[in-house]
Order: sequence, then C-alpha cells, then structure tokens
Amino acid sequence: MSETTRIAVTPGDGIGPEVVAESIRCLEALRERHGLALEWTRFPWPSHAWHQQHGEVMPDDALQQLRAFDAILLGALGDPGPMDDPDRYLLSDSVSLAPLLQMRKGFDQWVCERPARLLPGARQFLADERAKDIDMLVIRENSEGEYVGQGGRLRQGTAEEVATQMEVFTRRATDRIIRYGFEQARKRAETRAAEGKQRSFSILGGKTCESQVCIVTKRNALRYWGDMYSEAFAEIAKEYPDVATHHELVDAACMKFVQCPWHFDVVVASNLQGDILTDLAAVLSGGMGVAPSCNLNPDNPDMPSMFEPTHGSAPDIAGQGLADPTAMLFTTARMLDWLGRSDDKLKTAGQVLFDAVAADLAENGSTRRDTRAIGDAIIARLK
Ligand code: IPM
Ligand code: MN
Repeated sequence: MSETTRIAVTPGDGIGPEVVAESIRCLEALRERHGLALEWTRFPWPSHAWHQQHGEVMPDDALQQLRAFDAILLGALGDPGPMDDPDRYLLSDSVSLAPLLQMRKGFDQWVCERPARLLPGARQFLADERAKDIDMLVIRENSEGEYVGQGGRLRQGTAEEVATQMEVFTRRATDRIIRYGFEQARKRAETRAAEGKQRSFSILGGKTCESQVCIVTKRNALRYWGDMYSEAFAEIAKEYPDVATHHELVDAACMKFVQCPWHFDVVVASNLQGDILTDLAAVLSGGMGVAPSCNLNPDNPDMPSMFEPTHGSAPDIAGQGLADPTAMLFTTARMLDWLGRSDDKLKTAGQVLFDAVAADLAENGSTRRDTRAIGDAIIARLK
C-alpha cells in the first residue's frame, strides 16, 4: 500500500475556482472508484481576494507550506473579472501573476510541458485536412532565460529613462531541457509503436526516424544563447541517433506551426519563446479551453510540480459558469499520470480521466454547454 499522495489546490482568480471545482468533483469520483490514496487541501491564496484582505497575494511562508505537498493544482491567476464591473479589485499583472513564477523558480520546475494534439471533437481552426494529425509536445524551458527577472529602471518617469531586462542562459539548464526533449521524443515513439501508430521524420541519407526534436532559437539575432543552444543540441543529439533533429528560428516556427504543424513532434524552446509558441499551439489543438500544461521538477521528488492549464483567469466570462473545464481536466489527468510514477493506481486513474474527457470532447465538443454540464457529463463516464 502506497502512502497518501497530497495535493495543494489553489483555485486562484477568475474562472480558476469554476474549473477547479470540476477537477475536484472528478478527483472525488476517481478516488471512490479506484480506491486512491489521495487527499487535497484547498488554499484561498494566491488570489486577488487574499490580497484585498491581507495586502499580499499569498502569505510570506506560502512556498514553505506548499512544499509539503506532492503536487499543486492551480486554476488561474490574474484579473478576477467580471470585466463589466469597473469597481472590481484589480492588481497589476506583475503582482497578481508573480506567484506563478515564484513557484516555478522556488520548486525548480524547470520543464513546462504543453502538449498540442487535435483530438476528435475539438475545434479545428486550420482548414487543411492534415490538421487532424497535429500531435506535438512543446517543451518550454521554465527556470531561466528571458524570465529571470533581472534588470531595472533608471531615471524612472523622465525622458531619459532606461529600462534593462536581462536574459540569462546557463549551459546546465540548456543541457537538461534538451536532454529531456530527446527522452520525451523516444517515449512518444515507444507509445506510438505500442498503439500500432507510426510517424516518420526524414534525416540525411534518405533515412527516417520515428520521432523528432525541433529546437527553436532566434540565433540569427540573439546569437550568444542561440549558438549555445545549437551546440548543446548537436552534442546531445549524438546520444539519440534514433531521433531526427531539426532547428527553427522562432519567427519561422510560428509560420510553420500554422502552415504545417503536423510536421512537428517534440519542440524545445526557451522560456519566452515557448510561452508565445504555446498560445499558438493551444489554438492548433482546439483553443485555450482544451490546452493542458504542467510545470515539472523531474529530478527532485521533494519539490512539488505544479499543474495549471495554459489559459488565464478569463475575466470576460468569469463568474458566469461558462468556462470550459476541459483544459483543467486534461491537466488534472496529467497530474495523476505524473504522480502515478510511484503509484500504479494513480497512473490508471490519470488514463481513465483522460479517456473520459477525450470521449466527452469527441461526442459533445461542438455543443455549447456550461461548466457544470461538461463536468457532469465527464463524471458520469467515471462512475
Ligand atoms: C503562461 C502565462 C505566464 C507565463 C504569465 C501569466 C506569467 O502566460 O503560463 O503561459 O508567461 O509564463
Ligand atoms: Mn502564456
């Protein structure tokens, strides 16, 4: 019998609490059906509401408290909405969203995994029939790069003002994210083989590989980290002769994500470039309403990983029960799969949840339903 797995639930702002409520209902159903050794604790922070009461988005010891958990399930942070309420309690983005970055850094969640697969029933934004084959995994470097938060403002508010924003790229973080990308490419090829599916990516000499890693940089303009990424990529690629390699400049990657996204398998990108690419990738897979995301620390089991959909607090629809919980539920399925690394029951529950959400999407994806109705339909499949 495995020990109890503990989740910190942080619903956050806007539609966060609405979609998290559906996750919790699914977790309850799964716990009962599969006898999961799983429990969760709900936190009212980080949030605008907490700031309004306490003058800060979360307590000083928030990270210490969260560290005691095996995972964090986060709804969304940001403008709480509704947008037609001009008197709503608002904070600047740099204050309300800071906890996200603090958790990613504080728990060294150095991988951000954002799969983009156009599942049956999801909205197909691209007219091309081949869009049905979109199945990529964008891996975003999540610990440094453009997000180190170093810099400052000099002579603020004057005509001579200077703002500096540093980007920091270390070889250690570069190597580990690239190696992670290759490992995922291999795993994806194995999974496809087990399912009797195959993909084929060309390499030199007329040969093909069953998986691919594409590294994204802007090395024609940002040459220092671009060159370091390229060199690290070439070196690490030698350890994975079974995986095809590819490089794209980020602007061309944006173009090709729209023109021929079915040519991509695993994509490794820097923190900011990965952030931008994954909004685009989310649309390719049906929109923000279905796009999951995970912030992972793959090597320190004492540090919780954090699971939050790619979408934000959606203040335009907050408080109306209209948000699509699908992205949150796919994210929850990935959390169970992640936690299932040491507990087979959790792993199975993750697959069961994924299958239920995917089946619901396939059957009802084109029907307009409110948050609760989608949750009800999925829970019915879990029982
Ligand atoms: C995301 C978000 C965050 C990011 C913001 C809210 C800081 O856009 O998770 O993609 O840029 O990482
Ligand atoms: Mn983003």
